[in-house]
Amino acid sequence: MIKKGIILSGGMGTRMSPLTKAVNKQLLPIYDKPLIFYPLSILMLAKIREVLIIVNKGQLDQYKKIIPDGDRLGMKISYKEQDKPRGLPDAFILGEDFIKKDKVSMILGDNFFYGQSLTKILNNCVKLQQGAKVLLHKVANPENFGVAILNKKKIVKIKEKPKNFISNYAITGLYFFDNKVIQYAKKLKPSKRNELEITDLLNEYRKRNKLSAELIGRGGAWLDTGSIEDFYKTSNFVSVIENQQGFKIACLEEIAFNNGWIQKNDIKKSIKFYGNCNYSKYLMKIIL
Ligand code: DAU
Repeated sequence: MIKKGIILSGGMGTRMSPLTKAVNKQLLPIYDKPLIFYPLSILMLAKIREVLIIVNKGQLDQYKKIIPDGDRLGMKISYKEQDKPRGLPDAFILGEDFIKKDKVSMILGDNFFYGQSLTKILNNCVKLQQGAKVLLHKVANPENFGVAILNKKKIVKIKEKPKNFISNYAITGLYFFDNKVIQYAKKLKPSKRNELEITDLLNEYRKRNKLSAELIGRGGAWLDTGSIEDFYKTSNFVSVIENQQGFKIACLEEIAFNNGWIQKNDIKKSIKFYGNCNYSKYLMKIIL
């Protein structure tokens, strides 16, 4: 079972400047909560209770104001700073002491997932014995993502942001790895844009025939909130679903409570922490 997860939550957010000049992108709102709540909720739905959040150097205090540690959620949450964006695989070099001898999952801080079958897919993914697993989702604009060509559930080819069409299966920002990931990440060389590339890391597994995939079907939503347009699209999506159903997406305390990690008393502490707001009102309903 994979019991540890990393959220890669740094980056310069250049495409969203000036919004991201003072505040990290993952702390900006997606409708009624900071973006970081959404990827954290995905790890929690996968029953991952030990989480390392990697943030930009100098931005730790901002994060700690909203997620000081895992106490209120019955989790173990720690932080590590990245001094500059060295690329996605840097997470496993920075996270070596956190991962130790275990397997690990990683989610990008700006990725949004939603859908009925998601928890079932996540439960499957954390059962990974060896190798690596990625989640794929069909998209209309594959040139903006890492993409994969599949033969049944095995990936035969991957390419980062291909200029010419090779597949419309995007590799989403949620990955599951065995412990070899540390060793492979350390071996990588920076690409032309001077970053360690996640596709190079995944290729280490693919060439050993150890890279598998799960598909998020049409009923599931995956949104990468990389640009302002995507940010607002995702915000609207959350607003429509939440107001239609009366349920919140990514209410961290609700997931922790349903997982049996916290009690009603812990939720009361969170209500005090957030203060008089709609999020607290929702929490009150949970413990009625
Ligand atoms: O969203 C899925 C896509 O994410 C994949 O399909 C691509 O294969 C993968 O390369 C990645 O592409 P992006 O262009 O979206 O990556 P970006 O540089 O925007 O970084 C994603 C997140 O990770 C973002 O929230 C910032 C954070 N990050 C990024 C880098 C390079 C860090 O915290 N540190 C870093 O060094």
